[in-house]
Amino acid sequence: TRLYVRGLGGEKPRVPTDFARLERAAHEKMTPRGYAYVAGGAGLETTMRANRAAFERYTIVPRVLRGLDRRDSSVTLFGRTLPSPLLLAPIGVLEAAHSEADLAVAKASAATGVPFVFSSQASSPMEACAKVMKDAPRWFQLYWSTDDDVTRSFVKRAEACGCEAIVLTLDTTLLGWRPRDLNLGSLPFLRGQGIAQYLSDPVFRARLDREDASPSESPPRSPALALVARDLVVKGRQFDLDLKKMRAAVARFVGTYSRPDLSWDDVSRLREMTRLPILLKGVLHGDDAREAVGRGVNGLIVSNHGGRQIDGEVAALDALPDVVEAAGAAPVLFDSGVRSGADVFKALALGARAVLLGRPYVYGLALAGADGVRDVIENVLAELDLTMGLAGCGSLADVNRAMVRSSSS
Ligand code: FNR
Repeated sequence: TRLYVRGLGGEKPRVPTDFARLERAAHEKMTPRGYAYVAGGAGLETTMRANRAAFERYTIVPRVLRGLDRRDSSVTLFGRTLPSPLLLAPIGVLEAAHSEADLAVAKASAATGVPFVFSSQASSPMEACAKVMKDAPRWFQLYWSTDDDVTRSFVKRAEACGCEAIVLTLDTTLLGWRPRDLNLGSLPFLRGQGIAQYLSDPVFRARLDREDASPSESPPRSPALALVARDLVVKGRQFDLDLKKMRAAVARFVGTYSRPDLSWDDVSRLREMTRLPILLKGVLHGDDAREAVGRGVNGLIVSNHGGRQIDGEVAALDALPDVVEAAGAAPVLFDSGVRSGADVFKALALGARAVLLGRPYVYGLALAGADGVRDVIENVLAELDLTMGLAGCGSLADVNRAMVRSSSS
């Protein structure tokens, strides 16, 4: 109601309240490269469309006259009670959207109590985000480096800065085939974007210091390379690294950020590395969910990375029920394609314990920094609240499988 009343006063919302307009407005504001990186998907973007089509296939079947005058959407995850079943997905390279990047998101997260999952490929060090969040809940998302000492260092840093869970992402052991970026000749990491966790890591830095900084200092051969060099110089200043070292850092990052040969034994090693709850992100098959739970994993995130990795992959929402069934008592979270409060409702009805919001908050960030992220979060939660009320659900326990129907069945 508060949001409607604001409108009655003639006040226009700071960010559009529907996804299509939100994305369009962000598109106008962002650089072509930044927008391509955020909006793009793998290949022909079939998976991205499939994520949406799956949401559209499910319909909500409301129940009436239940005498509810308020809704409670709180949820308890790993011993912490959260105000809503929403988290902010780990998103790398947020500087592509806004100069304040992760710090702005951290502020919005703390203001709303919606946990922020810090990305391994963040644009701000996790410690800086943790600092602005005070006691608000946050998690850390890990890409497993080929340098095990860096991986261990990331986990220890996450523990030290108050992260309450480790999310190991499994669907990005290789970077997907993303034509929008490829066609612009654009990989943000090569410009030093999205590597702040590494530049601020003591183990990574020690390796760098020991390295012979041999990449030559000769002036860049093309205008494009000169621009890259300029970006690297600016970025390097924040981390006390000169151009030569920045080039070496980027090369080291590219060579070590991810392990294509990650296996189940590594999950067991991670189990020994930390006492924090571990969630595996990118699980889409029931058998993988069973294996994970057997190895002491505490939760799963059903996700296809927003359709950015395999073109033609199963829609994340279609994979959710199988994984929920296989996971038993372990909580299953969900992302990929969530655009509204009604979408959150559908994912919860299909068994998700909580939902991660991705691209929508990045567009809010692009449009209005921390305030924009906060507005997007509040809009999604307001719609979830209304949907629960109108569908006759007083708490998340009521948002169950009986509340939705697949229109194809
Ligand atoms: C991502 N995602 C992601 N996931 C992850 O585990 N670590 C990361 O660093 C990133 N980086 C990233 C960057 C950008 C620009 C996007 C759009 C996505 C995936 C993210 O966590 C989530 O799975 C998807 O965003 C969900 O899809 P939708 O809802 O955004 O379409």
